[in-house]
Amino acid sequence: MESIQILDAKKHVGETVQIGAWVANKRSSGKIAFLQLRDGTAYFQGIVVKSEVGEEVFQLAKNLNQETAVLVTGEIREDSRSKFGYEIGISGLEVVGESHDYPITPKEHGTDFLMDHRHLWLRSSKQHAIMQIRNEIIRATYEFFNKNGFIKIDPPILTGSAPEGTTDLFETNYFDQKAYLSQSGQLYMEAAAMAFGKVFSFGPTFRAEKSKTRRHLIEFWMIEPEMAFMHQEESLEVQEQYVAFLVQNVLDNCDYALDVLGRDREVLKKYTKLPFPRISYDDAVALLQKNGFADIQWGDDFGSPHETFIANSFDQPVFILNYPKAIKPFYMKPHPTREDVVICADMIAPEGYGEIIGGSERAIDHEYLLEQIRAHGLDENEYSWYLDLRKYGSVPHTGFGLGLERTVTWLSGIEHVRESIPFPRLLNRIYP
Ligand code: 4AD
Ligand code: MG
Repeated sequence: MESIQILDAKKHVGETVQIGAWVANKRSSGKIAFLQLRDGTAYFQGIVVKSEVGEEVFQLAKNLNQETAVLVTGEIREDSRSKFGYEIGISGLEVVGESHDYPITPKEHGTDFLMDHRHLWLRSSKQHAIMQIRNEIIRATYEFFNKNGFIKIDPPILTGSAPEGTTDLFETNYFDQKAYLSQSGQLYMEAAAMAFGKVFSFGPTFRAEKSKTRRHLIEFWMIEPEMAFMHQEESLEVQEQYVAFLVQNVLDNCDYALDVLGRDREVLKKYTKLPFPRISYDDAVALLQKNGFADIQWGDDFGSPHETFIANSFDQPVFILNYPKAIKPFYMKPHPTREDVVICADMIAPEGYGEIIGGSERAIDHEYLLEQIRAHGLDENEYSWYLDLRKYGSVPHTGFGLGLERTVTWLSGIEHVRESIPFPRLLNRIYP
């Protein structure tokens, strides 16, 4: 008899198979027991009929505790009433690992309790669906960049540089030197772009931000493409194509997860239409001021109410272009005719999910960059390798970073970024 994963059920209808699973829930009458099972790939129902299995197996089934691990044997059948679509008619049942007093019961629990039990909470159907969407976004990311001629390059995690500002750094000892956990792989990806043309990275990044919002993690994963011989307008096209591709692949490949999450497919479909709208920072400020945001002045960074208002003015993700130089990092390309802004763009997700991409064209002039490094209070010796890139065949180049967790949160339609990563690192939480 074949051992299968229930996700492959449609290939095995009518066959008798064996599945390793855990008991998520159960209900029973005197003659029939319904086991709610999960095997890691999906949630499905197992049906135990007393007259078919006999008294002993039926009693065993009836008394299974939540999260007991079992091997079930039985016939795969179609089950049009369930979300999953297939069930197993159980003929044999063996307990592999017992479970007593599982803390997460089917009743409602508070968030703190669930976060304390994150190692178990991951087993629940909603968390399961979110992780499938996360996995699909990662898979589609590799597909998109590989088919568009990018090569994956891995920047270091332990670094001596601070691309995104010196205030949010995790510092650690590197023998007798100081080192930081990477805030962004960008500077290394620029070196890689000068070596390989089009590159992308995917890895963990760290920000010691004291922000306790539904969009901020201390440790998050970023996808950072960098492209040589490319200006900002072309980069915006890559960005919108990439994001639309992610949405399309989630629609195509995450049916079950979208059902579990109750995510409206018609809403997601709007995000596959190109191009995405673009608005300048200047116009965004004017739009906010016209609509009663008295707190915002030209030169301010946007907070989440501002981003949400701007996003709600459009039906798709929107690019905000060319922010004030004073609120952006040192490496961005200066505007050709204006002193006060740089050539950059943030992509703001719809529905209040905030910024999912930050990117820019990069400054390529050696003297200008050196000046900026000094003006930002950075130690030029630590950046001399980076400045080398502007000495030996410096070319126009541009890149961006997409925050994986914000994207997962948005496409899943969930409230808070903490559920988009298996073990979130938050302000005041490093357990479990
Ligand atoms: O806008 P950021 O800071 O841009 C960079 O780091 C650039 N060096 C990227 C590049 O051009 N290669 O971060 C990029 C994205 C944000 O748009 C957001 O989606 C995500 O990373 N992000 C966070 N996600 C979760 N928690 C946080 N604390 C985040 N900070 C940024
Ligand atoms: Mg940003």
